[in-house]
Amino acid sequence: MHDHKALSLKLRASRRFAWHWAPVVVAGQSWKIATASDPDGMLLDACQRQDAGESGVIDPFWAAIWHAAAGLDQYLQSCDLVGQQVLELGCGTGRAGLSAALSGAQVTLTDGVSDPLLLVQLSVWPIRQSCTVRRLRFGKDRLGERKFPWILGSDITYLRSFWKDLEHTLRQHLAPGGCVLLSDPFRSIAHEFRDWVQARGWCYREEKVVTPGDQKRPIRIMKLQLHEHPSSC
Ligand SMILES: C[S@@+](CC[C@H](N)C(=O)[O-])C[C@H]1O[C@@H](n2cnc3c(N)ncnc32)[C@H](O)[C@@H]1O
Repeated sequence: MHDHKALSLKLRASRRFAWHWAPVVVAGQSWKIATASDPDGMLLDACQRQDAGESGVIDPFWAAIWHAAAGLDQYLQSCDLVGQQVLELGCGTGRAGLSAALSGAQVTLTDGVSDPLLLVQLSVWPIRQSCTVRRLRFGKDRLGERKFPWILGSDITYLRSFWKDLEHTLRQHLAPGGCVLLSDPFRSIAHEFRDWVQARGWCYREEKVVTPGDQKRPIRIMKLQLHEHPSSC
């Protein structure tokens, strides 16, 4: 029955786009991540459809594994996540959430777009007891009344237009004393986000992570907590 579901996921994904298994080291383990095979082609196609006036076309930024996810994966190895409830927002290929699950957490991986969630379900299949995969659009969807002590997001601060909705979603889902970890490759726009989010009552700290695979591109880990519920994360 379970194998039947995995097969059905593979078929549904293949009907939507070309994909393959990419070998990746996650949480220090060799893993296979189901990944779109032609992210550049998909982006070009989306741009052409937008230029032609089609409405509702979403940029398929989920289709690549962003370097910021490798940095967050590495940083998570210094956190004790065993038995912790973790929410990943804008998961794309789900590398950060997968890392948390392989580190012993119970993880809910979410994205605003449905297509990547097909692939994420395949990537987490061997550890599906530790993972839930859901659609969650910033500012629009809510996972019931659930609150999480850890919220992760890799490269999800790259558009100013997201910030208000993203912050709303963080407040809705963060447990008292909880910690948000957002990673980015030191984009200028994220420098702006740092100031913006602090002005909205968040306590902000940051760390720099250098991954062995790409020492020239350090990754910033932004740690956010609400002032009214400080703790150590
Ligand atoms: C740059 S990609 C990063 C993907 C992944 N976290 C990584 O680092 O590889 C941004 C992700 O945010 C998702 N996203 C964009 N807008 C969103 C929204 N309004 N609500 C939820 N997810 C959104 C995209 O679908 C995409 O997966």
